[in-house]
Amino acid sequence: DIRKGKSPEEAISYEDFKSMAFTRAVILETLRLSTVVNGLLRKTTQDVEMNGYVIPKGWRIYVYTREINYDPFMYPDPMTFNPWRWLEKNMESHPHFMLFGGGGRMCPGKEVGTAEIATFLHYFVTQYRSVQPLINRPQSNY
Ligand code: HEM
Repeated sequence: DIRKGKSPEEAISYEDFKSMAFTRAVILETLRLSTVVNGLLRKTTQDVEMNGYVIPKGWRIYVYTREINYDPFMYPDPMTFNPWRWLEKNMESHPHFMLFGGGGRMCPGKEVGTAEIATFLHYFVTQYRSVQPLINRPQSNY
């Protein structure tokens, strides 16, 4: 649809990127399942009580976000690749959305990174085609 309104050489714009809602959903679902970043490092600035346990001030904590990415409460049927889940509700503003970290240190490159992947995917699917080689190659064991 984006290419229909453009000449073949015309580049995609930021507006085009913003209109790629399903591509964005595919990128987020791929990041969720592949979990490139396993977790985040933090340091407690005060004693923190959680479920009856106290994490003392000054401790270093590893927040294992991989586990959150597979949490069935947040992502029903978590091991299934389901990009549509990202279209249903505003998942990106959920406090447990941690693909890019969270809080004040959340990844500042979130939109740049997403735009780069979306741009790559756009040109990959519109400019390239997959072909079946016609040559009968000799059988190889490798
Ligand atoms: C899909 C691509 C990317 C993923 C999954 C990702 C993920 C993350 C995560 C999980 C963190 C830790 C955030 C936290 O501690 O809460 C982070 C931090 C950071 N990211 Fe990314 N990132 C991506 C792309 C980028 C890009 C393209 C840039 C720069 C152009 C970037 C720059 C940074 C920087 C500077 C930090 C440190 C922020 C801080 O500590 O204040 N990231 N990223």
